[in-house]
Amino acid sequence: MVLGVTGGIAAYKSVQVARDLTRLGAEVDVVMTAGAGRFVRPLSFEGVTGRPALTDLFSADGAAQHIRLGYDADVVCVAPTTADFIARAAQGRANDLLSTTLLATRAPVLISPAMNDRMFAHPQTQRNLKHLHEALGYAIVGPASGPLAFGEGEGPGRMLEPGYIVQEIGRALGADPAFTGRKVLITAGPTREPLDPVRYLGNRSSGRMGFALAEAAWLRGADVCVVAGPVAVPAPYGPEIVSVETALEMHAAVGERVGETDLNIFAAAVADFRPTDPSEDKLKRAEVGPEFQIGLTANPDIAAETKSLRRGGAVTVGFALETSDLVENAQRKLDDKGFDLIVANDATDPLAGFDVDTNVATLVWREGEPEALPTMTKHELAERILQGVAALLGEGE
Ligand code: C5P
Repeated sequence: MVLGVTGGIAAYKSVQVARDLTRLGAEVDVVMTAGAGRFVRPLSFEGVTGRPALTDLFSADGAAQHIRLGYDADVVCVAPTTADFIARAAQGRANDLLSTTLLATRAPVLISPAMNDRMFAHPQTQRNLKHLHEALGYAIVGPASGPLAFGEGEGPGRMLEPGYIVQEIGRALGADPAFTGRKVLITAGPTREPLDPVRYLGNRSSGRMGFALAEAAWLRGADVCVVAGPVAVPAPYGPEIVSVETALEMHAAVGERVGETDLNIFAAAVADFRPTDPSEDKLKRAEVGPEFQIGLTANPDIAAETKSLRRGGAVTVGFALETSDLVENAQRKLDDKGFDLIVANDATDPLAGFDVDTNVATLVWREGEPEALPTMTKHELAERILQGVAALLGEGE
């Protein structure tokens, strides 16, 4: 791949990007503009990539170096990208090695802007970025908002953090036609059902499985929204996260979105019941007495009750945690909840279910034989589920 580096202070962070990509197995050719060389030396990049950083359009290594770079690259990412380079790219200029390489490539291109917030907000810069995205199909990743260079205050203009740039590059490389541009809705995590302002009924779901699915679908190019209860693990970078607390809130959030999605995955462990009459004040032991009865009301079954709101042709996946008759119970839920696939876990297996990184699942399809899968990580299972779903998404077109 080609990592283009232009002349902004964020160029020092590009060394980390080059290092991370190299450690992931990429062959990274760093191409620097003259401005980049004022901030960071070619040797810094050579030190982390093992390949000489390239700076000169008219080098003795062969006049057609830009053509080779453009041809060979599976992806080109420019990070940081200055306002000047954005303007040059938008005009199709070819006045240095990096701008020339852009014209010579047909690989996906990512542009990671980094500049002062006023320069970023300027209509010229905005118009150039719009052109790069809409007319040329470049992905514009960032900028992030936060502290800018020393003395410049805060605002939108910071280069995206290196780890996120690497994720964006992974997404450009992993684009799967069955998922690219598709809308995916995922529920994840537990729900909390309040007893009083400080106590709740909940469960041990961590959100790991839902987040693994969300990350995997995003890396395949989907537009992913996760409606997440109070999870115990950090959210993935790419998907939109809508945080909710109770089953009723999750129901409302799903209802608002499910009419527009191509794929729905119900991975949340929704509390089946909520306290009927939560107390407005903190319950006091002395007032409650030695025997405390809690009245419970059934929560809506979110998957079942939003079935009629789904788009025709949308694919829907559910989960089921069972202690007996795994496949029979799952098959019944396929119909009741309108699922195309149920991922059934045996709750008695210590390598499956809540709070662990692994899962042991049987895929129970509406059409076809159940598939009992070996123990794998939740990330591997997410990949496996999406591979299966890709075929159905293709059919729904
Ligand atoms: O009936 P059971 O709880 O086993 O069904 C599990 C499936 O239904 C999961 O996909 C879960 O996310 C979904 N579900 C739901 N709303 C509920 C209960 C379960 O969407 N109230």
